[in-house]
Amino acid sequence: MNAQEIRRAYLTFFEDRSHTVIPRAPLVLQNDPTTLFTGSGMQQLMPYLLGQSHPDGSRITDSQTCLRAQDIEEVGDNRHTTFFEMLGNWSLGDYFKAEQLPWIFEFLTDTVGIDPRKLYVTTFLGHQEYGIPKDTESGALWKSLFASKGIDAAEAEIGSEADGYEKGMPEGARIFYYAADKNWWYRGKNIEDMPVGEPGGPSSEIFYEFDYIQHDTAYGPKCHPNCDCGRFVEIGNNVLMQYVRRDTGFELLPNKNIDFGGGLERIAMAAIDSADAFKVSVLWPIIENLELISGKTYGSHTNAMRVIADHLRAATFLAVDGVVPSNKEQGYVMRRLMRRAIKKAFDLGIEQNFIEQVIPVIADLYEADFPEVKAQRHEVVAVLAKEEKIFRQTLRKGLAELTKIAQRNDNVVNGDSVFTLYDTFGYPVELTTEVVGTSGDYNLSSNWQQEFDAKMQEQRNRSRTATKGEFKGGLGGQTEQHKKYHTATHLMYQALRTVLGDHVIQRGSNITEERLRFDFSHDQKVTPEQLKQVEDMVNEQIIKDLSIFWKEYPTKQALEMGALGAFGDRYGDTVKIYQMGEGNDRYSFEICGGPHMDHTGQLGENGQHFKILKEEASSSGVRRIKAVLR
Ligand code: ALA
Repeated sequence: MNAQEIRRAYLTFFEDRSHTVIPRAPLVLQNDPTTLFTGSGMQQLMPYLLGQSHPDGSRITDSQTCLRAQDIEEVGDNRHTTFFEMLGNWSLGDYFKAEQLPWIFEFLTDTVGIDPRKLYVTTFLGHQEYGIPKDTESGALWKSLFASKGIDAAEAEIGSEADGYEKGMPEGARIFYYAADKNWWYRGKNIEDMPVGEPGGPSSEIFYEFDYIQHDTAYGPKCHPNCDCGRFVEIGNNVLMQYVRRDTGFELLPNKNIDFGGGLERIAMAAIDSADAFKVSVLWPIIENLELISGKTYGSHTNAMRVIADHLRAATFLAVDGVVPSNKEQGYVMRRLMRRAIKKAFDLGIEQNFIEQVIPVIADLYEADFPEVKAQRHEVVAVLAKEEKIFRQTLRKGLAELTKIAQRNDNVVNGDSVFTLYDTFGYPVELTTEVVGTSGDYNLSSNWQQEFDAKMQEQRNRSRTATKGEFKGGLGGQTEQHKKYHTATHLMYQALRTVLGDHVIQRGSNITEERLRFDFSHDQKVTPEQLKQVEDMVNEQIIKDLSIFWKEYPTKQALEMGALGAFGDRYGDTVKIYQMGEGNDRYSFEICGGPHMDHTGQLGENGQHFKILKEEASSSGVRRIKAVLR
């Protein structure tokens, strides 16, 4: 089976076992300021794992697109990617390990056809201090599952990851007991740091052995399932999510949940016994395309092609989900991904139409299950190609600056200069070292790397502090003024469609206490007359003092009724719709989480009027309006 077939088969397998298939959540979760990106399937299910009832029942499954930006520097080896899909199935207080472990074993071995002799599993050793017992039940379940395939699976008590490198693989061992550093799962890392209110639990992981990979002792004396050398790769994680952290310690959740996550690409690697993730069917066609357009081979340009394939796939999904490159937060990560990919494309000698040639290949790969990628490919190309143009300018400026810096300092470039070029001019470090190395005129100072690392560390500390502060304020920021601008945005969106036409679709929205900002599709300048018409219409609705209310509808019905939505959103089975005015006065009917004012008249309090301050191009085919109430 290839990756696409595995994705289909998995969803069908769990549908056949009474699960509801839900759509993927976007890479940037709305209303979750705790993480930059969706990094696991369970994130959109948090409230339900904590006990709320899910509208689709107690058995849920999906394939969730995930982004782990912390892995960005590792991309280039045979198995790290920033973007991946996580196959997930959940029991929300329904079945537990006695069903989950046999099902997933059956899926991997019988449905996908993975050789059970290549599989190894881990379970939780327990935590004395927190009173959490050793998970011998999972151990026994695994033992009988392996026995059903004629395999005598011995158990081994390991302890921590570090112990694993000492103990290695005892004879016949297939079931390994690890401590909390490896077999306790929640959204963070160490069990000690779990925040109060966070759910988690023991995990039982499944590993595939690429037996032709020799253990690398750089990682530790002996190999074991959790060794990072690449011989063993984790292909599935069964989280037995039954605890929640309280002030006083760990408490059992009202329900025992299952949170299973399995990397689609990793399972696809096991299915074809390839330790190289880039050989799987959702990556390999990108590599083949790169070979074609560069005229170079994967064998001789492995690292560059891997980085491009991963980063452009990630950037494509970010664009589909409404992110644009910028210097902040998600946009910053997207910019970094783009720039690293473009830099590698230069290395391959690809100069022309790079983005235009690669994105359609990516869109085709996801056509069957994520059709939004193909549907939005023109917008994606526009967003990414614009960033490519900006980066080319950056590179030119950076080179000029590098020359100046070197000449000022007796032809020596030190670590502070490398950092300034990188931080202020966006000039990649490896480019600096390469240019200096091949210039014949300039030299790097001998300790440039230490100086540079120190500067980077300083900057990381600064940005960590900044992010913390920002996220703290994030959720509670719904002031009266925000709500007014949010309501005004709905009115203006409708007015723009009335004046300009139904091709106007929301492409982005940003609201502060001072103004609203709204991006929408329209491929020419909005004339002053049209802007005046829009303003008048919005003010008319404010004078009419329409009542504002919301109702939940099945998504299909909502769309049939003509509800407006936003770019990049995907909806569950039901959606919340905000409506302004009723009957003939109904003016706005839009899918939205809220909150809003109660009456449009509140926008006109203290004699205020709606006023458009500015209309400009935002990106190709997208216009941007800034407006105020004053
Ligand atoms: N939530 C679990 C993980 O991300 C399944 O590994």
